[in-house]
Parts: sequence; C-alpha cells; structure tokens
Amino acid sequence: MLNGKRILLIIAGGIAAYKSLELIRRLRERGANVRAILTSAGSHFVTPLSVSSLTGEKVYQDLFSLTDEAEMGHIQLSRDADVLVVAPATADLMAKMAQGRADDLASTALLATDKPVLIAPAMNLRMWLHPSTQRNLALLNADGISTVGPNDGDMACGEFGPGRMAEPLEILVAIENVLGRSVLLKGRRALVTAGPTLESIDPVRFISNRSSGKQGYAIASALAALGAETTLVSGPTNLRPPTGVKLINIESAQQMLAACERALPVDITVCTAAVADWRIDQAANQKIKKGEGGVPNLKLIENPDILRAIATHQTQRPALVIGFAAETENVVAYAQAKLRKKHCDWIIANDVSPSTGVMGGDENTVHLISMSGTETWPKLSKTEVSSRLAQKISGHFKGTAA
Ligand code: CTP
Repeated sequence: MLNGKRILLIIAGGIAAYKSLELIRRLRERGANVRAILTSAGSHFVTPLSVSSLTGEKVYQDLFSLTDEAEMGHIQLSRDADVLVVAPATADLMAKMAQGRADDLASTALLATDKPVLIAPAMNLRMWLHPSTQRNLALLNADGISTVGPNDGDMACGEFGPGRMAEPLEILVAIENVLGRSVLLKGRRALVTAGPTLESIDPVRFISNRSSGKQGYAIASALAALGAETTLVSGPTNLRPPTGVKLINIESAQQMLAACERALPVDITVCTAAVADWRIDQAANQKIKKGEGGVPNLKLIENPDILRAIATHQTQRPALVIGFAAETENVVAYAQAKLRKKHCDWIIANDVSPSTGVMGGDENTVHLISMSGTETWPKLSKTEVSSRLAQKISGHFKGTAA
C-alpha cells in the first residue's frame, strides 16, 4: 500500500515531533517517499538535519526561500504528494487550517492541496478539550480531513488525559486507510442532488422549503473522498462547495432534472434534494401588483419526480439509485412504500418531526431500507451518516469492475 507513495509530512512545533522522526523511518522502510516541511516552531524540537537525514531529501522550511522556490514551488510541493500528513498537528496549526490561513509554508501547502490530508493532533489536554480546538476539529472533519488520535496518557507537561500524539505505527495504519479509501470508488461516477428548489411566482417571489442541503453536501463530499467522480446538483444553500466535487447550481425542479439528465451516465445517484412538489403553472413575467383583481389565485401543478425519473430511465439507469424519505410518522412503512413507488434500490428514511431537530440540524437518525430489509443506524452526525453511506456504497460495488 505505501510502496512508491509520496508523503508530504508537515512537522509542527510540539514535543511529539521526535516521534515524527520514527514515523519517517517506518514510512521509508515500507517504500514510501517522504518530503518534509518543518515549521519554525517544529525546528525548536527537531533539527532540519535529522529530518533530512531520515527523508534523504532537503527539508522545506521557508515560504519565501528563493532556493526552495527554484527547486520546487510551494504549490508543487503539495500537488506532488499522494497524501499530506500533519504530525504533530498543534492547536495553532489546526486553527489556521480551519480558517484557511496561509501565512507560512505549512499552512500554504495545506491550503493549496486537493489531496487527502491526515492530522495527528498533539497538545496539552486542556488545549485539546478547549471548545475552540473542538470547533476547529469539527470544521476540519467536515472539510474531509482525517484525524488519528490523540491518545490518552501521561503528557510531557505532567498531566494525564487526551492529547498525546498517536504512535508512529498507528499513524502508518491511518495513512494506509486514507490512501486506501481514496481508491474504493475510483473510476465510478456519482450524482447527488441537494438543497431545496425554488419555484418562481413572479420575478421577485417564490415558493421554497427549509432544506439546508447539509446532508447532500456531506454525501457528495464522502463519495468524492472515496475517489468517485462526483457531481452535486444543488438548489440555493448557504453551504461552501465541497472539495473535489463538481457543483452545478440550479433553482427550480425543472432545472434540477435537466442538470441531472445532463450528468448521466453515472454509476451512483443519491437524491437528497427537497424538491418542491409543486410549481406555479404560469409564473408571471412581471412583478404581480397588489390591488389588481384582488389576491392572486395561484394555480399549482406537480413538479417532475427527479428520483423516479432517474430510477426508471430507459437507457441510462444508474446501477445504484438511492433516495431519501423525510417523514414525520410511520417512518419505515412510508419509506418502504416510497422505495417501491420510486423504483430506487435503497431508501434512507429519517424522522424530520420538528422535535428531532433534523431539518437544518447537524445530526440524523436514519434507517437504510432496501428490498432485502431495514438497517437502523444509531444517531450520527450528518458527516458520519455520509461516510457510512459512502462505505456501504463502495461495499456494494466491491468486486465489480468500474
Ligand atoms: N424527490 C425527487 N423529486 C421530487 C420529489 C422527491 O427527486 N419531485 C426525491 C427526494 O430527493 C427524496 C425522495 O424523492 O430522495 C423522497 O422525497 P420526499 O419529499 O420524502 O417524497 P415525496 O415524493 O415528495 O412524497 P411526500 O412529500 O408525499 O412524502
């Protein structure tokens, strides 16, 4: 797995930096090529000479070093790697990464990459447990960044608790997982719909719904992280485009259907969009004025069912079509009926009653329903639901050629 892989190791400032020297040795033993960036704080804990002796390469330290730029531009440094590993990842570097700052070579390389990133945090336990660090960690995980550790144990500062960097062999396994994951859906194409649709009444007014798009964006991101070439067709949301995903913005259900049809053929379709069930029969070309003939009588007509259209496509039906069923009662029974009615392969059913906080929230309790039965998953964050679903999808395709 690691033989011939190119690892860009970023060593930030922490006492655990000495373990990164061991990590380099273990990686090289397994045939990996290691390039290292040593932050200025990191160089107080390990010397550039020990790092370069172990990597067998020069150590990159300075964003504005003309020699470094001449040999290898800082953007090229991260593009050239198969994976970026930050070990140790300090609270400060995690904060910079979460904010997307780029004021030194390490943070710039991390911002300039589209490759998988793994962090091995190491810090004092209070810094680790601090709400700011936990908030930054959640942001990084939502961006698809993987984490290994930290472990509980005696700390250099004399305290006991979480904050010790994972051991080199644990980091090694995590690197293998990250590299392995990014190939599970390689060669597969995926299409995800997300968000609400917006149906015009006139040029300034519309009908829509409260969908945040979070679940769909997280699924697109998880599929891309497994290597699928992913297109996300989305109604208006406040979310950032997920990394490594082709985002197509639309407004109405009709536009969503057209964009999805253009994205075919694909192997996988996941419809999470809260498509408006109805649209206005004849949207007005001009703003409807008050007082002209009283309250407007809006005639609604049904929108196309995008999930059903894809699942019953005559020539380009994807191998795996997955729908969502948002219900407020009889969740599993209604979802089973939807599975049959819409001809999809799996349905993810969830309870969206206001008391669950699912609509717009970050957590979801779902049931995965197929013709062969129902699996109920524990309450998970929308990001965790997405990675679990992506893993499940890759399991479905295992053993069949892309
Ligand atoms: N869906 C779709 N196009 C529509 C309506 C729904 O693609 N016009 C998809 C959703 O993205 C979701 C699934 O169908 O994957 C079920 O959506 P839901 O709103 O729960 O079902 P409806 O068909 O609208 O049924 P109802 O509102 O009556 O429960």
